[in-house]
Amino acid sequence: MIYFDNAASGWPKPPEVLRAMAYFMERVGANPGRSGHRLAVEAARIVYEAREGLAKLLGASDPLRIVFGLNATEALNLALAGLLVPGDHVITSSMEHNSVMRPLRALESKGVSVSIVHCSPQGLLDPQAVEAEIRPTTRLIALIHASNVVGTLLPIAEVGRIARRHNLLFLVDAAQTAGAYPIHVEADAIDLLAFTGHKALLGPQGTGGLYIGPRVDLRDLRPLLRGGTGSRSEEEQQPDFLPDRYESGTLNGVGLAGLAAGVRYLLGVGVSAVRAHEVALTRQLLEGLGRIPGVVVYGTRDAERQTATVSFNVEGVEPSEVGLRLDEEFEVMSRVGLHCSPGAHRTIGTYPTGTVRWSLSYFSTAAEVDAALSALETIARRR
Ligand SMILES: Cc1ncc(COP(=O)(O)O)c(C=O)c1O
Repeated sequence: MIYFDNAASGWPKPPEVLRAMAYFMERVGANPGRSGHRLAVEAARIVYEAREGLAKLLGASDPLRIVFGLNATEALNLALAGLLVPGDHVITSSMEHNSVMRPLRALESKGVSVSIVHCSPQGLLDPQAVEAEIRPTTRLIALIHASNVVGTLLPIAEVGRIARRHNLLFLVDAAQTAGAYPIHVEADAIDLLAFTGHKALLGPQGTGGLYIGPRVDLRDLRPLLRGGTGSRSEEEQQPDFLPDRYESGTLNGVGLAGLAAGVRYLLGVGVSAVRAHEVALTRQLLEGLGRIPGVVVYGTRDAERQTATVSFNVEGVEPSEVGLRLDEEFEVMSRVGLHCSPGAHRTIGTYPTGTVRWSLSYFSTAAEVDAALSALETIARRR
């Protein structure tokens, strides 16, 4: 079986992740940050290890600026709905995932203005086009780091500099890049960064969070939830400090144990080694796809300018049919359709049918790429 659906959820996970989760369930189990006994202290230590590891991996000097939640969607909702008020203007791109577009459309109906900068058919964004949209009411620039449809990397460092120059906040959706592509929130002038634990960060589903940088005034970022935090229990007002202001209710301790182990694994091998492996495989994949008659590849077709996510179609065959044949006949797991990103498909010209998407990981191999290519060649030959 070949699992090429890592952009949806990364799999397999390193054995260390499974062991850390089993340790939490078998030996710890307590509520992190609530009680003072040794098991609660151990649970809190594990959660802090996850915070510290992520801060290190993302280039944040203060681990308390990492706020945990369910996934990237929750983090993006917190950033957008927490920050924007009627009258504010926000700039985003045409490549965004619905986890950015749907909250923005909902905010638009309440008086927030949204400008969408159109990307090229390869998914490339011109930073100058972002700057040209800035108005006196602009509060935020929100950008996907890499497309979940075609893998194209957006110029976040350049846009970060533009945001700083105009004194705007900059939110990055790093669901597709955290753990797979080097990120440095401080060097790249990122104020808010949403990550998800279950993709390239190698953790389990149900983990994710938001980095909140020092330029964000916490009074301006309303929490999505309010409730018990284990701190300042005598007060009925939500704490005003990090991370408690945004972490009401019991955290996913077992999930964060797995995420801490995933991040530890990544810090050990180095994100640049992950990236180098994925670039080599993506190059092999793109070259192979380019040689199959009847296969159309979307995006940059340049492994250096994208992640290990590649979208394609077989001329004359519906993407859903290709996905089904790949699964049933060749045991290749793909994702087909619109990938929760209709705007990205409009941009690359594949709306409403969508594409077949293969997304690789650090654990994918050259032999798997060859086998998947040969399966696709058989399907394309039979058209
Ligand atoms: C670019 C992008 N943003 C956000 C998300 C949402 O991530 P999650 O489902 O973990 O909330 C995804 C998930 O596929 C994504 O690819």
